[in-house]
Amino acid sequence: MTDLYVAAIDQGTTSSRCMVFNQHGAVVSVDQREHRQIFPRPGWVEHDATEIWSKVQAVVAGALAKAGLRAEQLSALGITNQRETTVLWDRITGRPVHNAIVWQDTRTSALCGELGGEDGQDRFRDITGLPLASYFSGPKAAWLLDNVPGLRARAENGEIAFGTVDSWLIWNLTGGTDGGRHVTDVTNAGRTMLMNLHTLQWDASVLAAMNIPEAVLPEIRSSAEMYGTAVGPLAGVPVASALGDQQAAVFGQTCYGVGEAKNTYGTGSFLLLNTGTRPVPSKSGLLTTMGYQLGGERPVYCLEGSIAITGALVQWFRDQLGIIRSADEIEPLAASVEDNGGAYIVPAFSGLFAPYWRSDARGVVTGLTRYVTKAHLARAVLEATSWQTREVVDAMREDSGVEITTLKVDGGMTANGLLMQHQADVLGVPVIRPVVSETTCLGAAYAAGLATGVWQDLDELRAHWQRDEEWTPRMEAAERDREYRNWRKAVERSFGWEE
Ligand code: G3P
Repeated sequence: MTDLYVAAIDQGTTSSRCMVFNQHGAVVSVDQREHRQIFPRPGWVEHDATEIWSKVQAVVAGALAKAGLRAEQLSALGITNQRETTVLWDRITGRPVHNAIVWQDTRTSALCGELGGEDGQDRFRDITGLPLASYFSGPKAAWLLDNVPGLRARAENGEIAFGTVDSWLIWNLTGGTDGGRHVTDVTNAGRTMLMNLHTLQWDASVLAAMNIPEAVLPEIRSSAEMYGTAVGPLAGVPVASALGDQQAAVFGQTCYGVGEAKNTYGTGSFLLLNTGTRPVPSKSGLLTTMGYQLGGERPVYCLEGSIAITGALVQWFRDQLGIIRSADEIEPLAASVEDNGGAYIVPAFSGLFAPYWRSDARGVVTGLTRYVTKAHLARAVLEATSWQTREVVDAMREDSGVEITTLKVDGGMTANGLLMQHQADVLGVPVIRPVVSETTCLGAAYAAGLATGVWQDLDELRAHWQRDEEWTPRMEAAERDREYRNWRKAVERSFGWEE
């Protein structure tokens, strides 16, 4: 049998990556490049969408070269991406009309407050599954339409296209100004706050409330189907999947059954629980979101606990405080002491996301005494990740009634054994990392391979999943409970700060 290959592009917050997989789901090659983070004002975060597109082209070429493959040897190409980041571009010139507004950007906080009005933060929750927060794309698009001179009129004329990063890439890959397909998938559309979670269509009432002209919107498609055929260096390759990166990780971790969950540790952490073919409303501060939809099949929904800052706290400890020189120095430093020495760090750098959704929260360090050293603080940095995860796991239980009995983990921070042990300790359940921990790319490749017949069904994909390492809980319940109470007190102290 000839080997079959599927490529996936993961366009993330800090870098773009392309990976090639073979038909066994094993990694053949990887190429990755970072792009610029643009901070025009405190709280604002932008990306240059043109730079992103050129980095994506470069990593695709790089991954093919490393694999020793030509484009025509690829059976399919899948896309996964940082979610919510918003691009508006000119359909005629193909150029973005402004820098992309990144998911972490808080410039729309006041607009979200106004949109909530008397109904408050949950005004659109029944329709969209989401609370009004600066995190989501709809208000970002509204901000651009109102703040880029002349843009609204051009948008109403049909000259402007809106998209999350998946749309921007698919449009460019399939021809751009020369017939590019303007589409998105349900997982990305679901993060705009403009899609009706029940009909999987743009919602006229939300569009009207946010004053977004329908003419700018892409067509909403499933997560795994032929969107079009690539042109240029990838000419002829079917572009056959798109999923937001966290949903792609659900797919790559093969969480296909109700009650299966994964947590991905990156800049932030995102814990998603498969709740099956009906959306489960959240009363505990989680998001009701899409999991995936394969072609014409029924969509699968998830509950999501989105944590804005986890790995980014390690970066802050390294870059802003200069206590460590590289991220991997944190583990030996933290391991040089027995515990956190009474210190807790709540990294509410852009408010707190799940389960609080508080834009008035700011970072705090509590429990300081003269006893506390940089090693205790290193421990508190790592523990902030596991406690924030514990909070979203508790919220999951309240919302779904499902007990998470094991947690599948992936992403860069899972290389930190001390953190993974603490995660198992504070959850009281085993934490398991698979052999392929690049599950976002893997998930996009799986979905594209399913759409093009490389793989037949979900059982075949499940059979690829292999355990690499498992951490089992060791902490006494009394210690866990005491620590958790302290963490919660620290969180309360992060609330109520004025701009
Ligand atoms: O919702 C934001 C998330 O999709 C970003 O993920 O890994 O690019 O930081 P990442």
